[in-house]
Amino acid sequence: MTASKKRVAILISGGGSNMVALAQSMQGDHPGRPCLVLSNDPNAGGLSKAADMGIATASVDHKPFGKDRAAFEAALIDVLDQHQPDVVCLAGFMRILTDGFTGHYAGRMLNIHPSLLPKYKGLNTHQRALDAGDDVAGCSVHEVTAELDGGPILGQARVAILPGENADDLAARILPFEHQLYPEVLRKYLSGNREMTVLGA
Ligand code: GRF
Repeated sequence: MTASKKRVAILISGGGSNMVALAQSMQGDHPGRPCLVLSNDPNAGGLSKAADMGIATASVDHKPFGKDRAAFEAALIDVLDQHQPDVVCLAGFMRILTDGFTGHYAGRMLNIHPSLLPKYKGLNTHQRALDAGDDVAGCSVHEVTAELDGGPILGQARVAILPGENADDLAARILPFEHQLYPEVLRKYLSGNREMTVLGA
């Protein structure tokens, strides 16, 4: 890792397709380099993908901590900070984080959420857009604050909803836009550029 590059840690819970897109983008003149891929699930498929890309990996299984979110987050922070990240990217990370964690990384943590925020914070976003009869859906990259899915929005990709499609179809059509949006936003963010990125319809 050359000294001038920003160190980017990526948190995942599953397949890590957004992590792969981010890691693949951090090459050449990109101002960032991945320093760690960390999962709350030791069996997350994304961990082996990261290892195959030569990226350091770790996991902190949330299950032994039960309802003690603070203890789980303290363990996450302990592992994360050993790798001295300048920025933390949540990418398909499916644990709710308390303000203890979001405060520790305040001003240097991003998340991708599969809706056009501020609409549909939380889960089942595509089904909720379909149920509402929306004609457009998409994804958002935002700065992480104490409010779940509530921080300043840095980028959005808009995808027209097709007649008759279901939530899985819609999610599959939006995912490639996530893989384009998140790297574009991260590159700008690391360069200190917080201008909104808008992709798609
Ligand atoms: C994606 O839809 C992402 O928006 C959501 O989790 C899904 C899977 O992400 N947060 P990934 O393939 O693990 O990056």
